[in-house]
Amino acid sequence: MSKQEINLISDTITRPTPEMLNFMMQAEVGDDVFGADPTVIALQNKIAELFGMEAALFFPSGTMANQTAIKLHTQPAEQLICDKWSHVYNYESGGASFHSGVSCKLIDGERGMFKASQLAGVINDPEQYYLPLSSLVVVENTTNKGGGACWDYSELEKIKRVCSENELSYHLDGARLFNALVAKNESPIQYGKLFDSISICLSKGLGAPIGSLLLSSSENIHRAVRIRKLFGGGMRQVGYLAAAGIYALDHHVDRLTLDHQRAKSLGKALEQSEWVAKVEPIETNIIIFKLHENLDERLFLKELEKHQIKIISMGEGKLRVVTHLDFNDEMLEKVIDVLTHMPN
Ligand SMILES: Cc1ncc(COP(=O)(O)O)c(C=O)c1O
Repeated sequence: MSKQEINLISDTITRPTPEMLNFMMQAEVGDDVFGADPTVIALQNKIAELFGMEAALFFPSGTMANQTAIKLHTQPAEQLICDKWSHVYNYESGGASFHSGVSCKLIDGERGMFKASQLAGVINDPEQYYLPLSSLVVVENTTNKGGGACWDYSELEKIKRVCSENELSYHLDGARLFNALVAKNESPIQYGKLFDSISICLSKGLGAPIGSLLLSSSENIHRAVRIRKLFGGGMRQVGYLAAAGIYALDHHVDRLTLDHQRAKSLGKALEQSEWVAKVEPIETNIIIFKLHENLDERLFLKELEKHQIKIISMGEGKLRVVTHLDFNDEMLEKVIDVLTHMPN
């Protein structure tokens, strides 16, 4: 990325800050496949304590953490239930069927979120032996394809009740959970007590170069160590990367409000642009919008690129902008200025 470029395609594009790099360089490391990396152990203990859950495990990616959770909670031929826009269904290369041999039942939710009553309506009766056995519910907070939308916590509680009544496991894809916690003023403990497992990404809004965590019971995490190895995710002196995660949790959580404020300012500028037909509600750091039907999306992207501003198309006429740690007020002003003066 050149110095002048303003890259808003994702919050995954950030580079470690000098302070984070310095902290990483100081990490004490060991061979984590032997469970002997003190910095990895410290990160896992830190996040488990934060959420009030028994244990946690460090993963190279959010995808591997989610796929491990699916493997933990299901048997081949069973069914997981998720929203039609969920990451586990749309963007994990079909891993649920490949790794765990399960099918997905999709709920037609709103911005990636559904109601407990919708869930209750799609659970297969276990007595009907010819139907796949429903065994797992996956929710995503914030929702990616849903434009950074945050769940209503009371709905998540209602879903938990439906899960308990039907003996379903409950997994949270919390790739951007910290964005939701900051936006809604909620605590990690609230989430730790609700879910059987939670995945968290350190490499999105939190600004670490790599890394995700899976949180669950000690028994599940003990099993997850084997599954992670089976998936090729056992890592050696990985404490250098875990250190980035520790640094991110200590320094990059509260500042997420800045990303959210900047996203709202961009949303206002987009609403005023003659190109833009509709901007989805903005709750966190993701903005999804649509152009007027007669306007060419490629021309819009090209016009922005002339000013070294990059955003991404989501398909179906939707465009996405994501604010992040490497996007500052000066850049915000420039993007607003370009949007305001863009000819069509
Ligand atoms: C909601 C959600 N879950 C999971 C992931 C997967 O994370 P990773 O790219 O680290 O595999 C992403 C990545 O964008 C995501 O947005």
